[in-house]
Amino acid sequence: MTSEAEHLTLVLVGPMAAGKTSVGRRAARRLGVPFIDTDKRIVAEHGPIPEIFATRGEDSFRELERDAVVKALEDGGVISLGGGAVTDEKTRRLLHTQPVVFLTVSEDAVGDRLRGGNRPLLAGDDPVEKWKRIYAERRGWYEEVASITFDTSRRPMQRIADEIVAWRREQA
Ligand code: S3P
Repeated sequence: MTSEAEHLTLVLVGPMAAGKTSVGRRAARRLGVPFIDTDKRIVAEHGPIPEIFATRGEDSFRELERDAVVKALEDGGVISLGGGAVTDEKTRRLLHTQPVVFLTVSEDAVGDRLRGGNRPLLAGDDPVEKWKRIYAERRGWYEEVASITFDTSRRPMQRIADEIVAWRREQA
């Protein structure tokens, strides 16, 4: 890892469709460090996420995800995790030593963002209801690992990214 990436590494967590990828990409660009999306790395190596869930099961996906988090932290940069990464106790332990941003989004704002997605845990009827239930189950874990929280419901992603960058630079 370059010294700057090491210096400015930060991790984004939060529920599905909270804007982790959109905000993360913008924050990385502003900081001049690489952007890493652990879901994308898993897909590149193991194929589409719905197929991994269907053929190998969620537990196997969580193991792949944990390995991807370890590798991403070694590489450094702005690192966006899948919404369920915090369900894994070992992953949470890794995050305790990192600057972690928890991105939140309201139930009202999330509906539009969920349309047309291919998230296996939201497949079928009423994705927003499923999203709400899953978020309620995980909220405590996001709060456990978070250093700071930003809500993405109603403000431009670039503005949120800029605020995260300012916060991260203060920590450095
Ligand atoms: C998941 C979230 C997804 C992806 C997978 C499982 C989850 O990532 O990792 O579908 O359990 O919340 P996003 O949070 O980027 O949608």
